[in-house]
Amino acid sequence: MRKIINEMKVRIPARSTNEAVMRGVVSAFCAELNPTVEELGDLRCAVSEAVTNSIIHGYRDLPEGKIGYIYISLRLYDTREISVEISDNGCGIEDIEKAKRPMFTTGCGERCGMGFLVMESFTDSLTVKSKPNRGTTVLMRKILKP
Ligand SMILES: Nc1ncnc2c1ncn2[C@@H]1O[C@H](COP(=O)(O)OP(=O)(O)O)[C@@H](O)[C@H]1O
Ligand SMILES: [Mg+2]
Repeated sequence: MRKIINEMKVRIPARSTNEAVMRGVVSAFCAELNPTVEELGDLRCAVSEAVTNSIIHGYRDLPEGKIGYIYISLRLYDTREISVEISDNGCGIEDIEKAKRPMFTTGCGERCGMGFLVMESFTDSLTVKSKPNRGTTVLMRKILKP
């Protein structure tokens, strides 16, 4: 049975500056496992995509002056596994399979619909749960090389 060696929870407002904050938090959190530069880059990228999605899509309908929150739960296991769960209480996703397809986006302009693909290819597993008008939870696991 794998054992948890460290864990932390963060609640942070859905502001775009907090995307960089969360990349930093995740890097610091898994530093004790000495990830490679590549592994760290992958994780930072995946976390960035999930956090951006909560900010841009999850809370897109939030009325002026209201603050949405993002909840991040991090765990390190003795098997060199890192799990990152990122949730929001935003608008949710109608059709998760469709949302995960490359190039699918409900955004406009610079959105290109590759976020879920990045999360999937830069981690070892991706699970997305969502309910319209309730919110979205993305769970990613990454196993570092021995
Ligand atoms: N947290 C979220 N809340 C609501 N909708 C989301 C969320 N994350 C993703 N989506 C939906 O899934 C689509 C695809 O996401 P993604 O692959 O990251 O592409 P992009 O962000 O470029 O649109 C988004 O356009 C959006 O419709
Ligand atoms: Mg995205």
